[in-house]
Amino acid sequence: MKQWPDTRILDLLGIELPIIQAPMAGATNSSMVIAACNAGGLGSMPAAMLSTEQLREELKTIRQHTQHPINVNFFCHQPPAADEQRAKEWKDLLQPYYQELGADFEAPTPVSNRAPFDHAACEVIEALRPEVVSFHFALPEKSLLDRVKATGAKVLSSATTVAEAVWLEQHGCDAIIAMGYEAGGHRGMFLNDDLSSQVGTFALVPQVVDAVKVPVIAAGGIADARGVAAAFMLGASAVQVGTAYLFTPEAKVSASHHKALRTAKESETAVTNLFTGRPARGILNRVMRELGPMSAKAPAFPLAGGALMPLRAKDEADFSNLWAGQAFTLGVEMSTAQLTRKLAEEGLERLLNRA
Ligand SMILES: Cc1cc2nc3c(=O)[nH]c(=O)nc-3n(C[C@H](O)[C@H](O)[C@H](O)COP(=O)(O)O)c2cc1C
Repeated sequence: MKQWPDTRILDLLGIELPIIQAPMAGATNSSMVIAACNAGGLGSMPAAMLSTEQLREELKTIRQHTQHPINVNFFCHQPPAADEQRAKEWKDLLQPYYQELGADFEAPTPVSNRAPFDHAACEVIEALRPEVVSFHFALPEKSLLDRVKATGAKVLSSATTVAEAVWLEQHGCDAIIAMGYEAGGHRGMFLNDDLSSQVGTFALVPQVVDAVKVPVIAAGGIADARGVAAAFMLGASAVQVGTAYLFTPEAKVSASHHKALRTAKESETAVTNLFTGRPARGILNRVMRELGPMSAKAPAFPLAGGALMPLRAKDEADFSNLWAGQAFTLGVEMSTAQLTRKLAEEGLERLLNRA
């Protein structure tokens, strides 16, 4: 389908439709990726919550079921130094909930499991050679990035400000994901941690398009054809859609997450650091309302999640992260393949008939 007004991402990534099924750690597995790729979009496999063995298996499964290009996505944060004092203060803050729910406060605090891109992950990339590798929270160190690029993979990363987009281009990104404040999940922010300066998709995309030469992928709040067409009008060459894919049968979401996505009011998302230590957008629940949603006491990413695990085991709805973007009420139940094609077909229709 070459009628798109901008085919730079299609040409760069070798895909038919400018629709990127967003990587969603914990919610996306190989079945969603295969369906998105076979529909003509770019399926994205998130690696942040998988061991290298699990990742290897998922990628082998994907390769068995699709011939199309695939994206593998990694976090590239610096693992934090242990801070026992902060961990204690955080757990103490949660102590009344442990008491209320009958969770064992004295048991060792579980460790939360989001891993950064490292040598072992790079070996998986070198062995299985995905066509696209995307990163969140900047880029890995140069020696690792060089190894990824040596495989021939195109490299993407998320920018939440114009400055981050320019930085990513200067450091070798082949395309930039402009991630507006509407987006679900972790903010990809990495040059500063000032949430008050985060930018919405409508303002971010055209300014990033003006600031960089590489193609731009719009993300955040895009859930139907209107959003796809608007993103192209703003200068994007593709869209990355996350939350809308949470309504597909391929999404791996908990019962509480599933229910919240279908019953919460449209204004009920917020950016919170309670669940991991980094700001991320999700549906408001009890712990977010009562403690924050932002708390200066939350330990550094990804450590904050550990002390919440015993609580979420007792009460998933009130104590687990229910990641969703601001446009979540636009979500419609349909398969990943249907959603991918519908976004493209109806988005293109709107663009071509715009006059
Ligand atoms: C449940 C969930 C998990 C996410 N996990 C990741 C991830 O592992 N890696 C990543 O780069 N982005 C992640 N994101 C962000 C998405 O890739 C994407 O940028 C975002 O969902 C786009 O905004 P939207 O949700 O409004 O469509 C996640 C988003 C959601 C909703």
